[in-house]
Amino acid sequence: MLSTCDAAPAWGALQNHYRDSIRGMNLSQAFAADGQRLAQLSQQAPHVFADLSKNLWNTETESLLGLLASQRGVAQLRDAMLAGEAVNSSEGRAVMHWLLRMPRDRGALSENPVVQQWSPAMHAALGDVHTTLDAMLELAEQVRADARITDIVNIGIGGSHLGPEVVVNALEDWVDAGKHFHFVSNVDGHELGHVLRRVKPQNTLFLVASKSFTTAETMLNAHSARQWFLDNGGSADAAAPCSIDRHFVALTTNVAAAAEFGIGRTLGFWDWVGGRFSLWSAIGLSVAIAIGREQFRELLAGAHAMDAHFFGSPAEKNLPLRLGLLDVWYRDFCGLGSRCIAPYSHGLRRLTAYLQQLEMESNGKGVTRDGLSLKQPTAPVIWGEPGTNGQHAFFQMLHQGQDVIPVEFIALRDGGKYLGAHHQSLVVNAIAQAQGLMVGRHGEGHERHCSGNRPSSFLLLQQLDPASLGALIALYEHRVFVSGAVWGINSFDQWGVELGKKLARELHQRHDSGDWQGVDASTRALMRRLMTADQG
Ligand code: F6P
Repeated sequence: MLSTCDAAPAWGALQNHYRDSIRGMNLSQAFAADGQRLAQLSQQAPHVFADLSKNLWNTETESLLGLLASQRGVAQLRDAMLAGEAVNSSEGRAVMHWLLRMPRDRGALSENPVVQQWSPAMHAALGDVHTTLDAMLELAEQVRADARITDIVNIGIGGSHLGPEVVVNALEDWVDAGKHFHFVSNVDGHELGHVLRRVKPQNTLFLVASKSFTTAETMLNAHSARQWFLDNGGSADAAAPCSIDRHFVALTTNVAAAAEFGIGRTLGFWDWVGGRFSLWSAIGLSVAIAIGREQFRELLAGAHAMDAHFFGSPAEKNLPLRLGLLDVWYRDFCGLGSRCIAPYSHGLRRLTAYLQQLEMESNGKGVTRDGLSLKQPTAPVIWGEPGTNGQHAFFQMLHQGQDVIPVEFIALRDGGKYLGAHHQSLVVNAIAQAQGLMVGRHGEGHERHCSGNRPSSFLLLQQLDPASLGALIALYEHRVFVSGAVWGINSFDQWGVELGKKLARELHQRHDSGDWQGVDASTRALMRRLMTADQG
């Protein structure tokens, strides 16, 4: 696509629409004026109900956004992804995390015209997925049955950490009570140390999760864990009862590097699984151990249901498409630079951290897949904390601050074992906050004035079960795909993360060599202050 998104005819129409119809809109009045507003701007999708009616838009907005999506070839790119084409153009890779959760018989996508035209290689890939999945789930069941293993330590970072972590935390009610799960990601030794002080080698299974098996933090943590293991009774001898082979598993596409590290057991996956999209693959072994084979398949089934919805629903009722277009609308036409994620669920307390990588590492870019510089901003800053905690931290700013910040509420109809007063308070607070952002507070003195007219989306799950969670995460994956496709960027590479890694390597080398030629005074002084004993 050799043009930037502002060249699309619908782009100018959307700018005019914002100026003429939305900039001055009053949400409360919009509801009063249109009894159909709620019905037209909300919908049920698999496992997720979305009320998008408190957003600063209307049906004309959505119609123009749909035109923009059409002019930007979103559906064509979506189908190219489904066909296994190299949608990750800069790395020449397909993007097929959705294949990881497709049933052997292609499930709800078996009638999809693109799937029906699949190449033999795609059918073979699906077969490989299930062979690997069956092996992973078998291993998970073996670990679950092994009473000696009480602690599972996942060592990984980014997509090799955040996905498994958010799912294991969220599905606490489904987690095997006899196992304790630890997630070590930061290179700060305090994190690994905190865990190692609480586990014993003979009772611990270490999962070294790294797609590349080269990430510095993960490798250092894994080597330190290995040394701790050997220093505390473990053995490198495969025949020993407490051996590296029995207590370490590598989860990676780089099987050779795992073998070189000295890990005998490796679960592999493919380069067409992006790191931040990999929890459905072998990277999700900790999840499979936590919730078991059947519930892991439920997680996959929920995501697959959302996949089928995304790949097959008409635009006007395609929730990932609507949300992705809403993101473009807020970022490029309403000029809103961030989005607050407010999951009213303790179980979803790590969701925002997961979404930060998913959205900001996918779409925090300034050039198109064809190398054209973008004049328009892309990914919003994603931030937030669970409710009701956010109400006692930053909701003051959301209600009275100078910035209008769209809020995304996520709530559960069924609070599980904590139904009753706790759950009722939780959901009523979420609804009240969304209402307050919209209606504001007027005529009670300037201190209490809240402008109102502040937008929010409200996503509702029946309960926090594997299928619902799978659908919710898949919804966000596809939403990111949509906004990236409109912007014309490659949402599936992450070249920007290389600079920091490169400079860190150079600083280590300069510290060792003492050669600071050409290094700025600040960096040099900081290195001296932090890396040497002298206080000079
Ligand atoms: O942040 C850069 C990144 O490459 C992420 O995309 C990835 O999820 C993370 O580092 C970890 O990479 P790996 O799984 O290869 O260790």
